[in-house]
Formats: sequence, C-alpha cells, structure tokens
Amino acid sequence: MANNKTFTMLKPDSVEKGNIGAILEKITSSGFRIVAMKLTQLTTADAEAFYEIHKDRPFFADLVTYMTRGPIVAAILEKDNAVEDFRTLIGATNPAEAAEGTIRNMFADSISENAVHGSDSDENAAIEGAFHFSGREMF
Ligand code: CMP
Repeated sequence: MANNKTFTMLKPDSVEKGNIGAILEKITSSGFRIVAMKLTQLTTADAEAFYEIHKDRPFFADLVTYMTRGPIVAAILEKDNAVEDFRTLIGATNPAEAAEGTIRNMFADSISENAVHGSDSDENAAIEGAFHFSGREMF
C-alpha cells in the first residue's frame, strides 16, 4: 500500500520569482496537508548529497550551483497516494512537456530550473524528509 507522505522543495527560482505563495496555494488546494515546512538554503555538500544519484550526469555541477544559489522552501506533504499524486501535480521534469495546469507548466522556465522537487518513491520521500527535518519539526 502506498505511503501517504512525500517531500518537496520549492527551488531557488521559485523563491526568487516570488512564487512561494502561489505554489503553496496550488499544493494545498490540491488536497495536500503541510506536515513540516521551512525556508532554508542548501550548502554545496547538502546538494551534492541530495542529488548523489545524478553525480555522473553532465548537468550535475550546474544542478548543484542552481540548488545552492539561494533559499528554498522544504516541506513534507501528506495525502493519500502522496508520491504519485504530487508528481502528477508538478508535471514532467521538462516544463515544455508538463501538462497544462501543472506546477512546472505554470511556474518553471526550463528543464534545469524547474521550480519544484517531488520525491519519486515512498522510500526516497522518507529519506529526503529526514534529510531536512527532525521528528519534532513534523506535525
Ligand atoms: P528533479 O527531477 O527535481 O531532480 C533532478 C534535477 O536535475 C531536475 O529536477 C532538474 O532540476 C535537473 N535536471 C534534470 N534533467 C536535466 C537536464 N537534462 N538538464 C539539466 N538539468 C536537468
């Protein structure tokens, strides 16, 4: 049975463009409850660890630079079927291919600066949530 939590980051481009409120409204009005949330900034070591799976990809250095250049909003979200439903809500990695009305369709500029992160599995949602939050920060 699917877990009911996922992890998201509103990436630096979303914060820079003043889109925190609009994206959170889209998330909560789509039925997700915010369990934990903070404005924070990734260090280079944080971003390298978080995106370790991509370390051999040609875009890895740019990804680390992008994700560390300013604050992000990190959050844990709760909903039935959270991981899959949130990935549907955010749309394809490349905003040019993201369905109408998805967060990346509405707020992202490019495949590299794509506004939001969404966990790709229940296992990674738990790992990524624990990367950013202690138990006492989850409600
Ligand atoms: P996300 O899927 O959340 O996590 C990996 C990130 O790497 C992705 O979002 C983009 O920000 C970035 N990324 C993925 N594919 C590419 C690509 N082909 N070129 C540049 N950046 C990419």
